[in-house]
Amino acid sequence: MSIYLDNAATSYPKPETVYQAIMHALRDVGASPGRAGHRRSLDAARLLFQAREAVAALFRIPDASRVIFTHSATEALNLGLRGTLEPGDHVITTSMEHNSLVRPLFLLRKQGVDVSIVPAGSDGRVDPEEVNKALRPKTRMIAVGHISNVSGTIQAIDRLSAIAKEAGALFLLDAAQSAGSEPIDVVGAGIDLLAAPGHKGLFGPQGTGFLYVSPSTALRPLLAGGTGSSSTDEDQPLTMPEGFEAGTHNLPGIAGLKAGVDFVLEQGAANIGARERALTGEAATALAAVPGITLHRPADPAAHGGVLSFTVKGTDPATLAFMLDHNFDIAVRAGLHCAPQAHRTLGTFPDGTLRISPGWFNTSGEIAFFCDAVVKCLR
Ligand code: ALA
Repeated sequence: MSIYLDNAATSYPKPETVYQAIMHALRDVGASPGRAGHRRSLDAARLLFQAREAVAALFRIPDASRVIFTHSATEALNLGLRGTLEPGDHVITTSMEHNSLVRPLFLLRKQGVDVSIVPAGSDGRVDPEEVNKALRPKTRMIAVGHISNVSGTIQAIDRLSAIAKEAGALFLLDAAQSAGSEPIDVVGAGIDLLAAPGHKGLFGPQGTGFLYVSPSTALRPLLAGGTGSSSTDEDQPLTMPEGFEAGTHNLPGIAGLKAGVDFVLEQGAANIGARERALTGEAATALAAVPGITLHRPADPAAHGGVLSFTVKGTDPATLAFMLDHNFDIAVRAGLHCAPQAHRTLGTFPDGTLRISPGWFNTSGEIAFFCDAVVKCLR
């Protein structure tokens, strides 16, 4: 039995329709959207449009042209941050963030943007009132991750976005671990910028992602180049969305992403998230009974998504992950998960944790096998 429990890194397997859609784009469509008037190019443009519409439907985005396809959530975050913030602006984030949010902010800090990091508690929860206290007259943005990729902690995004609105600041949500597993309504939740990968909870292939930009948010492009439009203009057109998607699209990837999003729409993000949480809950119950194991997550199950991190007294997480892989064919992730500040917050720096992230296709039987395997490795 081969067991994959690393869906927070990338989801596997994908729904069968995703593999088929990628092959269809490669074999049957073959062309690029917006780059010619022949039928294949029109088919490609139709596919790109339908993919945007599918993403818009899932996140309740009223205008699909506000969805910019990127090659990753990291690119989407870079675009959302570097395309809006200017020297002198102040931005508030938390101590639970992934390097994909932290590093662009630290780059901007060197260019004159002030960055405040509000510490979370040892369960990863950020108190929104601490964020409120960190506001300054020049606060331009509050930027947070929805669900921690380390502890699974869910942040109180409705309150955080309300604080941003009251302060006249932008609210950026990094949905790397929540897109596809948590219902997200960009208008209802007051989200100005939503960054997500295509290859995790949305079941697309690697090399896909998107940024949603609200109509009231002015954005500068990260890249300049061919857009298939305004070709006589030597300046980058700022038309949504193609002005922000310079270069040939990853059409096979976007076709796969569309099929993945359709799958999430069919199953329902809430149902997918509930299954992931149920599986992590089964693992948490079994592992909590093992002497020497500490779980790093909020006590309240409602504040916890489908990611579970733990440490074992006297055992390096990387050694345990290696044993699970080689002796039991179980794929998990160990270490810092590209989020060192989160580990400092949780008290698991520098060795990190062993993390499991079950997905839609995992079963209770696999979780039980994994928990038995952990016990066997520790004997
Ligand atoms: N951010 C991804 C993870 O947590 C890659 O594994």
